[in-house]
Amino acid sequence: MTSNISYPATRLRRNRGTHWSRRLNAENELAVSDLIWPLFVINGVGKREAIPAMPGVERLSIDFICAAAEEATRMGIPAIALFPHTTHDKRTEKGSEAYNPDNLICTAIRAVRNLGLDIGIICDVALDPYTSNGHDGIMWKNEILNDETLAVLVRQALVQVEAGCDIIAPSDMMDGRIGVIRKALEDAGHSTVQIMAYSAKYASAFYGPFRSAIGSFNVFKGDKRTYQMDPANADEAMLEISLDISEGADMIIIKPGMPYLDIIRKAKDQFAIPTFAYQVSGEYAMLKAAADKGWFDYESAMLESLIAFKRAGCNGVLTYFAPTVATLLKKHKI
Ligand code: PBG
Repeated sequence: MTSNISYPATRLRRNRGTHWSRRLNAENELAVSDLIWPLFVINGVGKREAIPAMPGVERLSIDFICAAAEEATRMGIPAIALFPHTTHDKRTEKGSEAYNPDNLICTAIRAVRNLGLDIGIICDVALDPYTSNGHDGIMWKNEILNDETLAVLVRQALVQVEAGCDIIAPSDMMDGRIGVIRKALEDAGHSTVQIMAYSAKYASAFYGPFRSAIGSFNVFKGDKRTYQMDPANADEAMLEISLDISEGADMIIIKPGMPYLDIIRKAKDQFAIPTFAYQVSGEYAMLKAAADKGWFDYESAMLESLIAFKRAGCNGVLTYFAPTVATLLKKHKI
């Protein structure tokens, strides 16, 4: 295509010479409309708790979650993703708290919904906040049961939607979950509810800080490799995505983000569907810790990590940096 270009007629540094020219020639741009802000919910009123493995991120009681949703709306962030922190007494072998219509997450959804804000509410569907072993599915004799788990996931999705959740995000990686959830939503008259499928979710060490954030860290043993994907695989991710799309997913997530940019590009090229990256807790922790040590510049590293997702083909990113980035974008600092 451009094989006959040569120096000195072509000097690529010309376009890079000034700030305005770099802006003019930029192929991608990060906007506040790209951001999804994950938030951790805890019981109580007026409570905020630090999460040691995620400096700068806190668990918030519902009143503060509402304030965060208002702040997000003000900043133009299009959606928040809510995650419950579950105490030991609410966890059981079968994770039945997941479909209690008055559980913490449903109560939080209703509270935010009642504010009447122009903001999307996304909720995970997976049992790990509710099982006594921290697994995403029901365990029997050391095995995670697929089809038995599906029935519970459907009930979980339905109570969340009935509480006012806009986007259901199954992150459990059971086979067939998108299809059964889509069917249940249709049958219950919720045909407008979107499904954002965690289609390519890898069995990753980068989820460590999240597990302590939701209270799974001390209960979870072992790994999730019988349902989450092998980091060695890319073709399999395409299969997962094509299945989820055929079962009724409206959007897909690749997770984690930064180590899997190749998967994002491949997926976008192959499926041309709205595609999101989850820049997970471990990625946040890594960047924040190095910045806190003064080993690199926080803002530059954060922005570079996020524009990489746009370049790879993402429509948006779930990121704990969302409010910080939104503030920076507002100040026209970028
Ligand atoms: C639960 C879930 C996880 C994350 C989002 N939903 C953890 C896991 O699968 O163990 C990770 C998010 C993060 O690390 O920021 N299914």
